Amino acid sequence: MLVTQQPVLKRFWYPVMPLTHLSFEKPQPFELLGQKIALWLDADGQPAAVVDRCCHRTAQLSKGVVVNGQIRCPYHGWSYCADGTCGSVPQLTAEQSIPASYRVQSYLCANRYGYVWVCLDQNPLLPIPEISEAENPDYRLISEFYHRV
Ligand code: FES
Repeated sequence: MLVTQQPVLKRFWYPVMPLTHLSFEKPQPFELLGQKIALWLDADGQPAAVVDRCCHRTAQLSKGVVVNGQIRCPYHGWSYCADGTCGSVPQLTAEQSIPASYRVQSYLCANRYGYVWVCLDQNPLLPIPEISEAENPDYRLISEFYHRV
């Protein structure tokens, strides 16, 4: 069994990419512990993470775009909010409401120390690690490189 398949590992926060890699226009794909996720900046500039699989016809959401802070599927244009709820279905008329079942799995996501942190479980075992020097103006935080493995 792969170490990354241990369920307990999903209950920790992981820095997945620099915040500067996210934008208001284009989502980014990432694979964390074997789970494919899509990341973007919501309308408030906060990072958001959902499963990289549309609930309609399973298209990769990370190949879509971000519109008004929601991630829009590249296939039929359904859009999802940071909490995974569906915010827009172009095929519905104005009188039709979006069914609650139209949603994707969302993940805890936060910006800390200039990085996007994600936890794949809604109940993390520990908070994001405190690095007091990172928020101390007497120190300078230098991000030397970003390397995906
Ligand atoms: S597959 Fe995503 S909207 Fe149809």
